[in-house]
Amino acid sequence: MRIGILGTGTLAAALGEGWSRAGHEVSIGGRSQVKAEKLAERLGHGVLAVAPREAVVGRDAVLLAVSWDGVEDMLGLVGASDGLLEGTPLIDPTNAVAHGVGVLLTEHGESMARRIAGLAPGAHVVKAFHLFPADQWASSPGAGAGVDPANVTVAMCGDNSAALHVVGELVRDVGGIPAILGALDRVRQLEEVAGFVIGLAFAGFDPNSAVPRVPSSPVLD
Ligand SMILES: NC(=O)c1ccc[n+]([C@@H]2O[C@H](COP(=O)([O-])OP(=O)(O)OC[C@H]3O[C@@H](n4cnc5c(N)ncnc54)[C@H](OP(=O)(O)O)[C@@H]3O)[C@@H](O)[C@H]2O)c1
Repeated sequence: MRIGILGTGTLAAALGEGWSRAGHEVSIGGRSQVKAEKLAERLGHGVLAVAPREAVVGRDAVLLAVSWDGVEDMLGLVGASDGLLEGTPLIDPTNAVAHGVGVLLTEHGESMARRIAGLAPGAHVVKAFHLFPADQWASSPGAGAGVDPANVTVAMCGDNSAALHVVGELVRDVGGIPAILGALDRVRQLEEVAGFVIGLAFAGFDPNSAVPRVPSSPVLD
């Protein structure tokens, strides 16, 4: 796939590495061209540094790997309001949460994913990759600092089934298992989970120990 990544920070580096290792063509665009170039050079694998606008044109998927409060600026920079991302799967991994507390900073009932959908008309927004720390995806599957990839389920929400399928493939390519929770009308729930995890972790509890082991039902085709 041709993948565009907006942002040059920790998550952009980790997924950029994972996807380029999996054989995808990855282009990185940041508000700082210098940072984009440094990251592309560090990742190797033919990863390119491009202007933000170029990172979203003609892509099979775009990852919006910027801080939640930089989303509006970045989408403005690429001209998303002109419909440039129309029909493109746009992955939203953002966490608008108070650091160390986990309270969501979006208005009650609001979500980042829906805000992004409003800022990028026509884009097929998929919430994904917001829960696991970036280093989960950085190293070879099985050798990462995080959970064994075979046990990592990436819960996703989105309104477009084709986009969910594309993002599901990208989850598999970094060793995870994609799971669709529902459409964007359930995305607030997914965003709240990040706050739950962060809140418990900073309070000194293992969030995994706060979730019951419930047997999964068989998936029916
Ligand atoms: N790191 C993780 O473990 C992790 C895991 C799951 C989800 N996430 C989410 O993924 C997103 C990126 O996280 P990160 O850890 O990669 O953050 P990061 O290392 O701090 O990088 C943030 C990126 O956002 C850009 N940015 C910030 N404000 C901007 C603005 N106003 N306009 C344009 N670009 C702006 C930064 O550009 P400059 O460098 O030029 O400032 C940088 O490229 C966040 O929303 C985070 O919640 C992160």
